[in-house]
Amino acid sequence: MERTCLAVILAAGDSTRMKSSKSKVLHPVANRPMIAHVVEAVAKAGISSVALVVGRDAEEVAKAASIGGVEVEAHLQKERLGTGHAVLAAREAIARGYDDILVTYGDVPLQTEGPLRAARQALAEGSDIAVIGFHTDRPTGYGRLLVKDGELIAIREEKDATDAERAVKWCNSGLMAINGRKALDLLARIGNGNVKGEYYLTDLVEIARSLGGRVTAVDAPEVEMTGCNNRAELAAIERFWQEHRRQEMMISGVTMIAPETVFLSYDTVIGQDALIEPNVVFGPGAVIDGGAVIHSFSHIEGAHVRAGAAVGPFARLRPGADLGQGSKVGNFCEVKNGQIGEGAKVNHLTYIGDAVIGAGTNIGAGTITCNYDGVNKFETRIGANAFIGSNSALVAPVSIGDGAYIASGSVITDDVPADALAFGRARQEVKPERAKAIRESALAIKAAKKAKAE
Ligand code: UD1
Ligand code: CA
Repeated sequence: MERTCLAVILAAGDSTRMKSSKSKVLHPVANRPMIAHVVEAVAKAGISSVALVVGRDAEEVAKAASIGGVEVEAHLQKERLGTGHAVLAAREAIARGYDDILVTYGDVPLQTEGPLRAARQALAEGSDIAVIGFHTDRPTGYGRLLVKDGELIAIREEKDATDAERAVKWCNSGLMAINGRKALDLLARIGNGNVKGEYYLTDLVEIARSLGGRVTAVDAPEVEMTGCNNRAELAAIERFWQEHRRQEMMISGVTMIAPETVFLSYDTVIGQDALIEPNVVFGPGAVIDGGAVIHSFSHIEGAHVRAGAAVGPFARLRPGADLGQGSKVGNFCEVKNGQIGEGAKVNHLTYIGDAVIGAGTNIGAGTITCNYDGVNKFETRIGANAFIGSNSALVAPVSIGDGAYIASGSVITDDVPADALAFGRARQEVKPERAKAIRESALAIKAAKKAKAE
């Protein structure tokens, strides 16, 4: 039978060094709260019950942590008396009885399922405690893993360590798995007789051993165990995340000319043979199908770009933009909640909002769908193979039929039937010789003024 597991995510730190009015774990990495990344790693490790230990913003943190398929409950740690004390804030949940308790941190957003699974595997093989460690050249500040005869015998906090112990480069990530049937008993034995006067979760190593239990350490990559304490570290974590995801995408068949200038969101999807030019930003909810081209300086959020479509340079796709196969949205165009039909073209300086545009239609430069009257939004519908002349304003609600023509510079307020030509502007008049007469009269006035001055 599969082993049951509760993940206890510690997130009650006071976030002092973030200098923020909100909990550290709410700050986003790749446009998603840090805590959601942690819950996702936990879920991927096959764990569906989460006890969140929080000290502030409980409701908001619990909400940010709620992702599909995982049950999240928040537990308040009223006083911050150390990591051992923090885990016990979830006593009620632990007492329900699980095979494994996995303790992890809410401010370590790059963690992945691998080390979490490895720690659980160690429990399955008979360990009472499995610590997740990492090797680093900069161990300062971390607890050190002390090994004797190949066995982990203790974790020593920096402040309690001797010089020799400080020289150790194998560090405690803080993440560990605990035998769920013994957890409450083991945790109850943690004291606070140390330099900081805190209840150290790390004491479990010595406690379990003294009771005859087996203790193991498993290894994790240093980058994955990076914690976030301030905004500079937040930026470093973001950089790691971006580098990693771009790499994955390129390996899966996406071309990026200057990957270091492309910014992805946690949920960005890009298909094979898509080409992403330099300086493109993907907000949440972007789906780019195979073979699409995103030219430089485009910003894409909540939008679907279908196969073979081209976007930009300098285009903005906002939520609800849906670009049909082979369509084009060119420079200085914005599309919001707008469907662009197969092969349709919106090439220059245009705003398409709350609109449906049929296949093969051409939208001329400077076209605006006037979708908003200051209070309500209205829809513009344009059929297939229509032609909208440059600098037209389409005042919604309005509909334009298949194959219709709109004359340049029109303000269209009434529906236009299929195959009709609509003018919404004054008709042109031409007055022969009139320009010459105006110019001559102006020159005469100027000459008279000059004569008077002399
Ligand atoms: C802890 C570990 C250390 C490890 C390091 C990794 C202990 C005693 N030490 O040290 O071995 O190398 O993490 O970063 O466990 N927290 C609470 N409530 C508390 C205290 C902490 O929720 O009362 C949470 C914090 O929000 C944070 C995590 O626990 O996410 C770690 O706390 P922190 O004070 O940063 O521990 P360190 O002293 O860095
Ligand atoms: Ca820390």
